[in-house]
Amino acid sequence: MNTATKNLEDDHVHILLLLEVMKRIIGSDKPDISHIENIVDIIRNFADGLHHAKEENQFFPFLTKRGFSLTQGPVAVMLHEHVEGREFVKGIEANIPLYKGGNTSALGKIYSNMAGYADLLHNHIGKENNILFRMADNALSESDHKDLLIKFGEAENADLSGSSAEEYIKRIQQLASVYGV
Ligand SMILES: [Fe+2]
Ligand SMILES: [Fe+2]
Repeated sequence: MNTATKNLEDDHVHILLLLEVMKRIIGSDKPDISHIENIVDIIRNFADGLHHAKEENQFFPFLTKRGFSLTQGPVAVMLHEHVEGREFVKGIEANIPLYKGGNTSALGKIYSNMAGYADLLHNHIGKENNILFRMADNALSESDHKDLLIKFGEAENADLSGSSAEEYIKRIQQLASVYGV
């Protein structure tokens, strides 16, 4: 049976691949800045705009109907980590124009925010896959999963800043092949 948690875990596979690309770029003297801009755009529209939106707008609220709290416990921790992730992305994005304008110290800030994001999301995905989603599987019925999958499908078919979910996944795979991950 296809489940809502499996759907979210499939997104995680692509996001984890993107994190590996980020780790390969961190520390290089002369990065291809267009790749970092590409990564920010993929995070904004796919990792956050689609995946975190499915969790925050559909999955987590649905869990409250099955006894979970949004304000304490694992879901609250996950929500807080999404917010922390957005701060790292802002830190990457804000330093790109500075670096392009010749401010070499901006590159260190880009890298520290990329490392912070990769570390945070890696742990976050581990907690979702191993703890929260398994708790959810115990609480959700087969028809709950079906209802959620319909909502997820609507989100996946929506326009994501002019691109589709498949196009973002393809862009992650292209970056992965460039960096040999
Ligand atoms: Fe999450
Ligand atoms: Fe997730």
